[in-house]
Amino acid sequence: MESVFNLENFDIKLDTEVIGRNIIYTDEASSTNSFLLDPAISGNINGTILIAEKQTKGRGRKDRLWYSTKGLNLTFSILLTDKKYFTKHFNLINFAAALSTAIAIEKFFQSRTELKWPNDVLINNKKVAGVLIESTSKGEKIERVVIGIGINVNQTSFQGSFNIQPTSLKIETNETVERETLLAELLNVFEETLEQVISNYKWILKEWKQRCGMIGERISVSDGEKTKSGIFDDVDENGFMILKDKDKVEKIYFGDVSIV
Ligand code: BTN
Repeated sequence: MESVFNLENFDIKLDTEVIGRNIIYTDEASSTNSFLLDPAISGNINGTILIAEKQTKGRGRKDRLWYSTKGLNLTFSILLTDKKYFTKHFNLINFAAALSTAIAIEKFFQSRTELKWPNDVLINNKKVAGVLIESTSKGEKIERVVIGIGINVNQTSFQGSFNIQPTSLKIETNETVERETLLAELLNVFEETLEQVISNYKWILKEWKQRCGMIGERISVSDGEKTKSGIFDDVDENGFMILKDKDKVEKIYFGDVSIV
């Protein structure tokens, strides 16, 4: 059953300094990412989060749509404007977001999660959460980064055709999950994980790789136009995929991966 997000319950559990200290909560938005990307409508406060009960144009990677039933799941975005995050390992914010989602889920539900390159969170090979990071820049300088996260929490049926079969925490655990607790925990973890991007990026890579079952496997990766295949050898220090095929080694910057 649809429920209203209780901001008080959320706030009690939030243990961060910056992330989520400025909250915008709305019944409906076109896309929480689009909203936070626009400084004219969302301001510039570092760590602002926007939670929407429903998105009319929720976006996924590669121009896909992100469907989520109103009031059952978590669809939110986080705004970063502090330049301290925009280091040379900036791309690892992607991994940090997926990893924090995985850690928060594991903490609460003792479920094993798996990470799929670049930033999907899976349980039992089905997708429970996805991350879409977008940024704006002036010249070479990044101005704002928006991290959008969609988690299937209490939705129990999914219609349509999907790239990866979706699931939800409720389907996997048989329990209704309190969205407020999960989001607060995720943001608590994310704030710490973000600091690691700046000061100890190797930790992010280590934790991410521990949960990625595809490293070492023969895979194919498609960018929508071309499909390449080979062994998913490793990820580099920015989280890009190193694909090996015979004597050829290639870097892959984005795409959909499947095991072949
Ligand atoms: C993906 O797996 O393709 C990424 C999905 C990201 C969905 C979230 S929901 C909140 C935020 N707002 C959006 O429009 N998209 C992201």
